[in-house]
Amino acid sequence: MVLAAVLLTTIPACHRKSGPQITDRTDIPARPMPATTSMAGAADIEAGKQIYTVGKCTKCHEAKPVDNWTAEQWKPILKSMIPKAKLDSLQRAQVTAYVNLHARKG
Ligand code: HEC
Repeated sequence: MVLAAVLLTTIPACHRKSGPQITDRTDIPARPMPATTSMAGAADIEAGKQIYTVGKCTKCHEAKPVDNWTAEQWKPILKSMIPKAKLDSLQRAQVTAYVNLHARKG
């Protein structure tokens, strides 16, 4: 009997209070613009290009045509070349972004 009394009193109370009622919202909150990230991406790719074509990647050899290799084939090449060029983690990401963008497709 005690249980039944609790159920009878709590359930309707819970039901009435279930969550905030958002009935009067007419606008949808704006999402953050993706423009800033794509701008940063473009700047990084440009930096990667510099490293690749005139920077640390040309210390030992000329810049090789990026589309000689697919992105998949570039992975082991970058893995061995990045330490040779002594790139920091930002430069590494920039060169990788540049290479992946211009790698041979398929
Ligand atoms: C310390 C010298 C040195 C630096 C710096 C260097 N490379 Fe190399 N790279 C080599 C040598 C030596 C070879 C040829 C032998 C080999 O493949 O390991 C080579 C070969 C390559 C090849 C041809 C790979 C193949 O399979 O034919 C690519 C592409 C390349 N490097 C890209 C890069 C990139 C990108 C960077 C900058 C991140 C870079 N290299 C920096 C020495 C260097």
